[in-house]
Amino acid sequence: MVDTVKEEAVALFKETYGSEPTHGAFAPGRVNLIGEHTDYNDGFVFPMALHDKVCVLVGRKTDSDRCRVVTSAAVDGECRYEFPTPSPTNPLTPAVEAKWYSYFLGVVAGFDQNRGNIPAFDVAISTSVPLGGGLSSSASLEVATFTFLEELCPDLKSTDLTAKALACQKAEHDYAHVPCGVMDQFIATMGRQGNALLIDCRAPPTGELVPFNDPDTVIVVTNSNIKHALGSSEYPKRRATCEQAAKVLEKPALRDCDLQLLESFKSQLSDLQYRRARHVITECKRTMDAVAALRANDMATFGRLMYESHESLRADYEVSCGELDHLVALAKEVDGVYGARMTGGGFGGCTVTLVRKDGVDALIKHIKQGYPENRATCFVTTAGAGTAAISL
Ligand code: GLA
Repeated sequence: MVDTVKEEAVALFKETYGSEPTHGAFAPGRVNLIGEHTDYNDGFVFPMALHDKVCVLVGRKTDSDRCRVVTSAAVDGECRYEFPTPSPTNPLTPAVEAKWYSYFLGVVAGFDQNRGNIPAFDVAISTSVPLGGGLSSSASLEVATFTFLEELCPDLKSTDLTAKALACQKAEHDYAHVPCGVMDQFIATMGRQGNALLIDCRAPPTGELVPFNDPDTVIVVTNSNIKHALGSSEYPKRRATCEQAAKVLEKPALRDCDLQLLESFKSQLSDLQYRRARHVITECKRTMDAVAALRANDMATFGRLMYESHESLRADYEVSCGELDHLVALAKEVDGVYGARMTGGGFGGCTVTLVRKDGVDALIKHIKQGYPENRATCFVTTAGAGTAAISL
């Protein structure tokens, strides 16, 4: 799949700039298996990189004093953007309103802190990660941009992958104005084929690879193809409520709390704070239990925890929506399905389903028939690699 996207990016580059690109990089989208809305609570998450959904950048240095970028996938119409090569006299600064190139720009800005070490360049972007589908299209763009810049400027190559993921997260905070956790940039940087990654998100975040390659079990991702506008305004609210709740509980973060503590402070918490905290506390525990189940090859337990995670996200954290609930309910009706849940930030986007290989066809058929107007799109996937340079 990297090859197809690479070919598209190379074709776009040639068509736009009339020359051949010399450097390239990719970074994957991700699906989070369990551990949702826990990363910004210093908690645990368990995503895997998608081997066949990737963002590719190809480009070359130029003799001009400007950088130019073109994409095959702009959501807001305009596909091209250019800016003066960043330097102390021409520093990059964030725009008030985020655009498709904001993620890219944020990484360029952070890469050498506007010191003027990045040469002028042209670049083309192509992606197979569905945009805004909860599969981390933005982090794949950020991390691919970072790797591309490392290829272009080998002297500035990062040896510290954690610092790289954090720089990409900062780009999203500062340039896209999304106060995201570190999960997406971390897995796009550190993913490994055949493995999911248990990330402990407490700073500095650390990851532990867990083999996820049972030949009889597969992951199906189902895109509801719905995106409720609420998502972007609700995310910062969830984060703020969690921080308030941790304060009331007198702990640095909700990751440090358990249900007993929560109950003992119940009267001091608002109902909203109580339910948000209950989700995070139980989700951290579910994530650790799910990893233990996977290590024991106990798919039934893993699947049950996925259903429980969905229910908690729906009822306590209130980030699901009717379409996602419906997709999970449909999956549950199919023989061979171990578990299903919404994945990513919520308010639309995708579900993730763990299913026996021999149940996949029935699952996809059932979803197509049961989801309104046949609008859901499914794909079967496996755990892929994290970001890397690509040869052209
Ligand atoms: C988005 C954010 C992540 C994480 C998830 C929810 O994908 O970018 O950091 O918070 O939502 O688990």
